[in-house]
Amino acid sequence: MRNYRILTVTHKTTNTDDIAGFIIPTDDKTILMERLAELREQYGLHELMYLATCNRVLFFFVSHTTPDSDFITTFFQSINPALSTANTDTISEKVLYFEGQEAIRHLYEIAASVDSMVVGEREIFRQLREAYEACRAAKLTGDNIRIAMRTVVEVAKEVYATTRIGEKPVSVVSLAFRKLQAQIDLSESRFLIVGAGKTNTLFAKFMLKHGYKDASVFNRSLANAQLLANELKATAFTLADLENYDSGFDVMVVCTAAIEPIVTKAIYQKINENKERKIIIDLSLPRNVSDDVVENFDIEYIDIEKLRQLAKQNMAFRLNEVEKAKKLIDKRVDEFKMRFRQRQIERAMSDVPTQIKSIKAHAMDSVFKNELDKLNPEARELVERMMDYMEKRCIGIPMVAVKDAYRKLHKRVESDE
Ligand SMILES: NC(=O)c1ccc[n+]([C@@H]2O[C@H](COP(=O)([O-])OP(=O)(O)OC[C@H]3O[C@@H](n4cnc5c(N)ncnc54)[C@H](OP(=O)(O)O)[C@@H]3O)[C@@H](O)[C@H]2O)c1
Repeated sequence: MRNYRILTVTHKTTNTDDIAGFIIPTDDKTILMERLAELREQYGLHELMYLATCNRVLFFFVSHTTPDSDFITTFFQSINPALSTANTDTISEKVLYFEGQEAIRHLYEIAASVDSMVVGEREIFRQLREAYEACRAAKLTGDNIRIAMRTVVEVAKEVYATTRIGEKPVSVVSLAFRKLQAQIDLSESRFLIVGAGKTNTLFAKFMLKHGYKDASVFNRSLANAQLLANELKATAFTLADLENYDSGFDVMVVCTAAIEPIVTKAIYQKINENKERKIIIDLSLPRNVSDDVVENFDIEYIDIEKLRQLAKQNMAFRLNEVEKAKKLIDKRVDEFKMRFRQRQIERAMSDVPTQIKSIKAHAMDSVFKNELDKLNPEARELVERMMDYMEKRCIGIPMVAVKDAYRKLHKRVESDE
């Protein structure tokens, strides 16, 4: 179990701009999986899973080697050679390392949203499951991560069902919307939406609920822009149309998976027709609005970093529930240790049927061959049937015995608690 390992950079150790430097820099899912396969090969990892969200990057892997500080620095530099010197110097402060049961606990805490910037938001549970599915489909993971992730799903569901952690659900998007609501009259606001992925679609749901004057949607692919525009009764455009947009706006909501800024100074200059103060919400990581736009124009800029303060207030409401969730997680981590050992034995036993079959074949084809050849057909058939019967019964015995022993042990642990 010690071979479960996690290297992660989160909102708890650094700011969102720094986190962006630890993400594998590509927005192409195929290239991402190829890159992960290379990393697995290069660092001798048996299994690997990768998660990148707006406030964490996580590498969950199985390996016999404990990563030392040299490993960690080289690992992240090979992921992103553009990591600045400042970043690599302080890499040990930013990268958290967990192994064994602490790695499992960390996964449980992520999935149950105990470790989130916005505690209680379930979006992370979906993101974690999707990350696993993508890595599993790319054959980066194996049996160890599979059994860990199976329990992650069970534990997260249990936490959400038995605590109030997800009550009055909040998300990064809802916090951003709340901040916006506090500043403007929505019914008078013209929205310019850049990106038509899950995050902006979630944002659009808040707009539909609370009102807006009009909206335009810009996206890399026009088809997806159109889907979101249909919901908002808005006009759809491609990203290339953005610089020619001259109808004006009050709020720009930017969120794409692009790794380079989309709203550059040159573009903003063109679309900022009346030069009045605007609100820009940028939920992308890395940020999609370039620094010189934020610095040079009259803008209220809301990015994920700014939402951290709001997230802390939200945390106060949930502190009690976090404690309850952590107790439950402690219990489930202990259970996982047992399930893991059981699985190890099952794996070791997976050879038993083949061994029994080969002993039987050896007995019949070699050790007792001469005697069997002298038997009449009826007697020989009887011996063969007896051997088949013994084979089937013997194969089941060790498995049943192990499961039984674990069931008893499990009951004893529960009654001790
Ligand atoms: N999910 C969350 O809870 C959450 C919360 C806060 C922030 N974020 C951040 O939001 C960003 C997007 O996440 P998402 O979940 O909305 O992603 P998503 O559903 O996968 O959508 C990705 C969006 O980005 C566009 N896109 C991808 N690569 C692009 C490129 N190179 N240039 C221009 N547009 C590109 C896609 O356009 P097409 O339609 O043409 O593919 C699509 O509109 C990420 O940076 C993430 O960290 C997510």
